Amino acid sequence: LLPLPVSPELLTLKQGLVNGNNNNPSSFPPNFLFGTASSAYEYEGGYLSDGKGKVIDGSNGDVAVDHYHRYLEDIDLMVSLGVNSYRFSISWARILPKGRFGNVNVAGIDFYNNLIDALLLKGIKPFVTLTHIDLPQEIEDRYGSWLSPESQLDFAYFADICFKSFGDRVKYWVTFNEPNFQVKFGYREGNFPPSRCSFPFGNCTNGDSEKEPFIAAHNIILSHAAAVHIYRSKYQAKQGGSIGIIINAAWFEPISSSMAGKLAEERAQCFTTNWFLDPIVFGRYPPEMQSILGSILPEFSQTEKEMLKKGLDFIGINHYSSYYVQDCMFTACEPGTGTSKTEGLWAQSYQKNGIPIGEPTDVDWLYVYPGGMEKIITYVKKRFNNTPMIITENGYGEVTKANSTIEDSLQDVNRAKYMAGYLDSLSTAIRKGADVRGYFAWSLLDNFEWEYGFTRRFGLHHVDFKTLKRTPKFSATWYKNFIAEHGKVK
Ligand code: NOJ
Repeated sequence: LLPLPVSPELLTLKQGLVNGNNNNPSSFPPNFLFGTASSAYEYEGGYLSDGKGKVIDGSNGDVAVDHYHRYLEDIDLMVSLGVNSYRFSISWARILPKGRFGNVNVAGIDFYNNLIDALLLKGIKPFVTLTHIDLPQEIEDRYGSWLSPESQLDFAYFADICFKSFGDRVKYWVTFNEPNFQVKFGYREGNFPPSRCSFPFGNCTNGDSEKEPFIAAHNIILSHAAAVHIYRSKYQAKQGGSIGIIINAAWFEPISSSMAGKLAEERAQCFTTNWFLDPIVFGRYPPEMQSILGSILPEFSQTEKEMLKKGLDFIGINHYSSYYVQDCMFTACEPGTGTSKTEGLWAQSYQKNGIPIGEPTDVDWLYVYPGGMEKIITYVKKRFNNTPMIITENGYGEVTKANSTIEDSLQDVNRAKYMAGYLDSLSTAIRKGADVRGYFAWSLLDNFEWEYGFTRRFGLHHVDFKTLKRTPKFSATWYKNFIAEHGKVK
């Protein structure tokens, strides 16, 4: 790593963070994956390079952080960190610019082959998300992508190509990243592609926010099942990998300790984490959702239920923050949460009696509450019978201010503290018996954020968005030391 400008205060903190915050280094099991995470649209750029077509929102990720052309340099950064795995997503439009209605783009296949081979050469395991929100524009234009059951055919077709092309070397597959947020923001609040929403959310009137998130979710769940079916029946025995899905799993605390408060907390988990995991593990939606939503919630046929059950090998968890939840079924909540039937999805609150749940950060949705990590892991462990879990994202963001300098960004002690706290909490959960197999920091580099463009930085490495130069931050040095201390190969 490049030498950092280190003050004595930082050095002391560094020592404290590395040596003082994890009481039980042995809780990370052998072969635990330590890595960093990324996604195609937020990283690659090269949006028209070598035959790739449009993505749904092509306005801001055209260059991103140019990982498409700089992946070798980025792998060198990973080597410096000492990570043993790298989570990235495949750009569907780079492989199939016209979806299943056109040809495979050979240059796209070549890019991922080169990336995978270069990673393996350095002893870094590829951990691949098939789609991280972006998809070929053709699928949106023809029938509104996830709003149509046709999308299941599209995804299955694409997944098959990926398993066939890369599965000899990729041993970890994820079908979808955070579909619970993808549909919330894409079909209810209008701030993620394809930007659909209706009153009272956002300014658009192009959707039906009451129903659409549930229809999109339904097609995504069945698309996941179709891909898993293909993987298991055609590839898994031969290739020996595993497949899962990633959920954004926040931790919720009730704002009131009354029975109504406890029920609201459980509803919040059902309308976020369990919404996708229950169908995939048990073959049905959470009972709370069924009774609250009635006919708004689509139904699975008997055949679909059977196909869905036990449809994953691991659960991917993106965990960043915790929130209070309030009961909006029987009491009026703040505007926007309302008393609608879908309230369980959005009945969150940042404060209780004016006090936030943890330390607030620059990022409005991010509160530092390390204990939430152990709590959500324990919750998922219990509900899903200790299915193997992988922390597929955890990280700290800072907002670029008008007068911020690169020095401010490089001395990111807060990020290192955040990671130390969350990893400590994770190690406690593991020590108490949770089957967790890996941890990926979001993110290797500062990058393009879906809603906020280049104004929010989550990287262990600073990126100058004009020159695209990468510089390690304090947190990179910290993570490197942490892995050196706690990562064991065997
Ligand atoms: C989760 C998402 O998967 C990722 O795309 C996003 O950049 C990070 N959260 C940070 O907001």
